[in-house]
Order: sequence, then C-alpha cells, then structure tokens
Amino acid sequence: MKSYKIIDHEYDVVVLGAGGSGLRAAVGLSESGLKTACISKVFPTRSHTSAAQGGISASLGNMGEDDWRWHMYDTVKGADWLGDQDSIEYLCKEAPKAVIELEKYGVPFSRTEDGKIYQRPFGGMTKNYGNGIVQRTCAAADRTGHAILHTLYGQALKHKTEFFIEYFALDLLMKDGECKGLIAWNLNDGTIHRFRAHTVIIATGGFGKVYYSATSAHTCTGDGNAMVLRAGLPLQDMEFVQFHPTGIYGHGTLITEGARGEGGYLTNSKGERFMERYAPKAKDLASRDVVSRSMSIEINEGRGVGNEQDHVHLNLSHLDKEVIESRLPGITDAARLFANVDVTKEPIPVVPTVHYNMGGIPTNYKGEVITVNGSEKTVPGLMAIGEAACVSVHGANRLGSNSLIDLVVFGRAAAKRAAELIKPGTPHEEINETETEKCLERFDKIRNADGDIGTAELRLSMQKTMQSKCAVFRTEKTLKEGVEDIRKTYDGLGSMSVKDKSLIFNTDLVESLEFDNLIRQAVVTVDSAYNRKESRGAHAREDFPKRDDEKFMQHTLAWCNGKETKISYREVHKSTLTNDVQYFPPQERVY
Ligand code: FUM
Repeated sequence: MKSYKIIDHEYDVVVLGAGGSGLRAAVGLSESGLKTACISKVFPTRSHTSAAQGGISASLGNMGEDDWRWHMYDTVKGADWLGDQDSIEYLCKEAPKAVIELEKYGVPFSRTEDGKIYQRPFGGMTKNYGNGIVQRTCAAADRTGHAILHTLYGQALKHKTEFFIEYFALDLLMKDGECKGLIAWNLNDGTIHRFRAHTVIIATGGFGKVYYSATSAHTCTGDGNAMVLRAGLPLQDMEFVQFHPTGIYGHGTLITEGARGEGGYLTNSKGERFMERYAPKAKDLASRDVVSRSMSIEINEGRGVGNEQDHVHLNLSHLDKEVIESRLPGITDAARLFANVDVTKEPIPVVPTVHYNMGGIPTNYKGEVITVNGSEKTVPGLMAIGEAACVSVHGANRLGSNSLIDLVVFGRAAAKRAAELIKPGTPHEEINETETEKCLERFDKIRNADGDIGTAELRLSMQKTMQSKCAVFRTEKTLKEGVEDIRKTYDGLGSMSVKDKSLIFNTDLVESLEFDNLIRQAVVTVDSAYNRKESRGAHAREDFPKRDDEKFMQHTLAWCNGKETKISYREVHKSTLTNDVQYFPPQERVY
C-alpha cells in the first residue's frame, strides 16, 4: 500500500478511547511518568460517558450504613452468578477510594445538607445482603457521567497526556501473539498514523449500534472489539445485552433509573403498579433485566399503553418539584424535548431499550487481555477497560451505576499494571511491514467499495435483525433465524458502495468502517445467544426458562473470522482475591 504515506509515532502506552475509562487510565499512566498517547474518534468530552446520568456506585455510607461486601453480594446476584468474583471483590473494595479520588480531582457531585456526596437508591442495590434498599449511587444531579468526563479530561491535560483527536483506529499491530501498537486514520487531514507502543489499552466502549433502538450514541460501534476479533482473539459473553427499562418510547433516549431511585414508578394501561407483582420487595428498583422483562410481559399480554399498546408509563408527577428540579433536571428536559411531556404533570412513555453490553474483550482484574489457547493466558501488550472489556464484573446483567465505577476502578488498575510492567522510554521493536499492509489493504478495499448497496441500508438490515431476533425474550426459532439473517447482511459487505473516496472527514467511509466493525459483533452476539441454552440475567430464553448452573455457569468465548465463528467456554472465577470476603455460591434470584 505504497499509496498511503505513513507517519510513525512511539509511545510507552497508547490508550484507544477517551471516555471515562480511557481518560482515567491516561491520567494514571501520565502521572506515573509513562509517555502516553490517547487516541479518540471524537473530541474527548463528546465520548459516550457524558450520557451516563444517574450515578456511580460506591459504599461510602453517606446516607446510611453500607459495606463493600453488601455491594459485592448485590453485584454477584445482579450478574446472575456469571461474574468473576475476584474481579467483583476488587471493584467493590476499590470503589470508595476511586470516588473520593474523583471528588479530589474536582467532580461537582451533588451534596447532602452536611456537605457529603449525595447518594441515591438504584436498582438491585441493597443493604445487609438483600434486606432493604440502600442509597449507594453517588450523583451529580442526573448528569454524573458528563461531570466525571469533563473533570478527567482536565486532569489528563494537566498531566500531559498527548491527545490524537478525531483519529479513527483501523487495526492492532500484532507480532507473534503480542500487541505492538496500532494504525489510525486522521480524519482531519487524511494521513495514516502508525503508533508503536509497549501496551495498547482498548477503551472504545460498547457496540449498542448493532441494534435499532438503543440509548447509545451513534459512535458506539465497538471498534476496539472488532480490532480484537480481526487480531484472532476472542470476545466473551457477547449474548448478554442489557435493555434499560426506561428509554423514551419512539426515540430510545435514556431516562435515568435515578428517576425511580427518587420515587418514580411504572404503570400499565390499567394504571397498575405492575412491578409489585414481579418483584414484591424491590418493586421498581429490581435489577434491570427483571424490570425490562416485566414490562415486556405487560406489553405482550395486552396491558401496554398508547394506540399500539406497545409501551408503559413512568410516573414522576407525584414527586416534590424541588426534587425534580435539583436532582432530575436533565431527564426533565429530555422528556419535554423527545416526548413533549411535562414530567410534573404527565407520565413519560417508556420502553425497554438497548443500553449496555456486558460482553466484550476478556480481561483479568488488572485490565490485561486474556485468551485461551489450550490454557488461559494473558496477551502481552494488550489491555482493555470499560464497556469494551469483559472483566467480568457484570456477568449476565449489570446493575445500574456499576458502569461508571467499573470505568474508573479498572482504568486506574490498568494504569497501575502498565506502570509495573513498562520502564519509561524502553526502545521499540521493529514490526514487519506486512502487518501494516494487511491493515491498509482492508482500509483501501472498503474505501473503494463500488457495489450497489449503501452502508446505511446494510446497517439498517443488521439493526432490524438484531432487534427482532435477539431481543429481550429469545427462542431457538428466533435465534436460528437471526443466525441465518445476520449472515445474509454480512454477505452484503461484498456489494457495499462507498461513494465518497476522499480521505478528509469522509463520513461515508467512517460509517462503512464502523459497519464492518459492527457486523462482526452482531454475528458473535447472535451465535453466542443461540448456543447458550438456558436463561440467565439479560439472556432470557423462552424455550429454556431456567438457569442451568451445571452446564452454563461458564463464560462464552467467541472467535470470528468474517462470518465463521468458533464458540467455546471458560470457567467463571469462583474464588475471591482475599480472605476479606467469602465466595457467594449460586442462589435463586428473587427481588
Ligand atoms: O439509568 C441510568 O442513569 C443509567 C445508569 C447506568 O447505566 O449505570
């Protein structure tokens, strides 16, 4: 690919992605003296973390007694026993420190009367191992992610992280199973950049855009996950896709679970608070998989609201106006803008909407990527954090507000691990040119695609298939159709048309590269779902309604070479890191 001029860079560490986890890692890396680059396809403060609303969990105990072990129990239960308990212990024990650190960095948290960080109730967060609701979710009104993201960007600049903004990453540079860097395209001037690094940390977020209706930004295309697949490495637990109960009907815009935390509740067409039937103790604050399934049952059994009876109502009008104004200003605006609803007077029309990917790049609790080749081993030079990673603290279902804490705890852990492994300024090895050529050949092929199907058409076909065949409830029939239909869309890649051949801010090409990334993840998601013949967390099989711990208390691993996948399984970690807490064995999951 002599036609592309390549600009070379050398860094100790390259962080790919500038959301909460990428920025938290970048701060730690730069602080520890490692020469750090942070590459992002959007301006850092436009990363999707800014859309996180309700808060960040940590057992600070500011609003009543709390204990990190209770948080750990809730997370293990929320994950439906698919989470790795060593990682969950690390998350919950480190959470209070990580939040206090954010406070010191300058995050403008909401405050209690006596000046402590305000904490609200959130789904599945309980005290004393399931005995009552706890206020554990630290909030900056309902714009917590936005507050954290802006603060961390300021800290990264202060610590001299070098940013490469509006660069689209193409592929990892691998040598003998080790990662040596990556190649990226500068959208601003069309140049191609090769970054050598002792470690690449993937922090590219989730891939919500494989679905039609999602709370995710258009940029959530899982680019790092697809790079990992193309490098011949597996993704883990991709079948576990979280549907957030309260996306605005018809738009998918998020209405925070914090709205229910502050006292909001769901009703059906009969005006019934139906969650009382499905989760007698936790009601509207049961875990998200439970609430989303309950809503879907209400709708499927004809008790939905609206002309089509295809959604339900979220009621906030009984709440104190002061609470709405001070703690829920963002969703008040969103409801007015997207649903034409004044939340002080009317209910918001809501429907379960794709929100989060529990699956992703398998890692240990230090952020190191793992693969299985005979036995389990780490991939030298490669780490993953945040929603791109599957560490796995969320298992089969994530609790609300455990995502922001995952970003900062594991962003910080990855920076610490990289500082242990890398001596600043260590020289870089030469990389064979064939790796660069392979990457640029794929780029050039997509750029020059001259078929007759537009990328938008292919993307829509993928999104509609995923939405209808791999939804809240799944069956052998729908999944089998999904497995077949998604491959038909994949075959469309051969007839894709990219009209704009330029290299500067070519959004046609960006979307086509993103589609190439998305479709691979769609294939592994539906294949992994088809192969898991049980119900667990967010994976609800109508034909296998029970959890099957004997066969499936295991992580799915999926390799994908184009449309061919290989599925295998690895053990869930059943031991804790220390003796400070004991392993929580599987139980029936009741809320
Ligand atoms: O509902 C919310 O505010 C979302 C939070 C989360 O996904 O953690």
